[in-house]
Amino acid sequence: MKFILKIIKIFPPEASHIIALHCLNILYKLKILNLFFPKFEKDSFEFVGLNFTNKLGTAAGLDKNGDFINCLGALGFGFIEVGTITPLPQSGNPKPRVFRLSKDSAVINRLGFNNKGVEHLVKNLQQKKYKGVVGVNIGANKNSRDQKRIDDYLICFERVADYADYITINISSPNTPELRNLHNEKNIKLLIKSVEEKSRLINYSGPIFLKISPDEPANLIKQIAGLIEESQLTGLIISNTTVKKNNLIEDKYKHYQGGLSGKPLMEQSTKSLKIIKEAFPQLPIIGVGGVMSKYDFDTKISSGASLVQIYTGFIIHGPQIIKQILSKH
Ligand code: FNR
Repeated sequence: MKFILKIIKIFPPEASHIIALHCLNILYKLKILNLFFPKFEKDSFEFVGLNFTNKLGTAAGLDKNGDFINCLGALGFGFIEVGTITPLPQSGNPKPRVFRLSKDSAVINRLGFNNKGVEHLVKNLQQKKYKGVVGVNIGANKNSRDQKRIDDYLICFERVADYADYITINISSPNTPELRNLHNEKNIKLLIKSVEEKSRLINYSGPIFLKISPDEPANLIKQIAGLIEESQLTGLIISNTTVKKNNLIEDKYKHYQGGLSGKPLMEQSTKSLKIIKEAFPQLPIIGVGGVMSKYDFDTKISSGASLVQIYTGFIIHGPQIIKQILSKH
């Protein structure tokens, strides 16, 4: 299996991620996935009213369209977050747009919400066999601005509400122009109010998370956390990728546009997590950013995350990392 992973890595990063997922999906469909990646014991616990089998889930972006839910579930993840999905399909930014930084154990991506649109995802959610928790991460199309941008979130929200165990409002991708402006007080208040109204209107009672950037100042993220605590939204996902690239070993990538994930993100995203946990101890938080080992996973939990998500660590180390992280010793 290690040999196959090495061959797949010969391809450019974006292609190799897709090929790897398709290979795992073939093993799943042949019913031999667990011969290669055996599942392990499950602990059952409740969080935000949902039942989880373990605390490790996939971060958004790994399965944007919900094409691989069953296979990722069979690998042993405790929950899967699909998306980011937008109302209309869109192709994203020009290629190349994903870069592998091997020496840094990191990835830079500027995909720009390439996805097949919300209707495609809904079909996959209707047909999925995986019985675990599936969250849906929603966003806005590239050309939607101002009120149209808010409307895009509401369109996705309403469309996925019947099929999502939880919904994540993603305001933190650095690759959609001006999306991060939604962190500003006036904009975030309007977005929260609009989502609250929509969820009341359609009787949605599941959890709603807001996924934030690690690049905003402490006072701003505390302000956002305060607004979430007062609202009907449930909690925060901390964090998305960073645009700060000053601590890279591979110098040439310092000026690449896009979001940085993986090892160099761990410290910064965990710092944001700690700041929020200290100020709002009761607020439910999902921790993500830079988890490359069991030690990192344990650090996220001890810093205040109730659940942890992974993306870059999974594509660098392969499915074995799930077992390594979740083993007791
Ligand atoms: C992402 N991430 C992401 N996040 C999100 O909310 N919506 C998305 O569509 C994507 N897409 C995406 C693509 C690629 C190639 C990467 C590497 C990342 C961010 C991801 O969910 C996560 O927040 C960060 O990658 C940090 O976690 P890791 O990768 O350090 O474990």
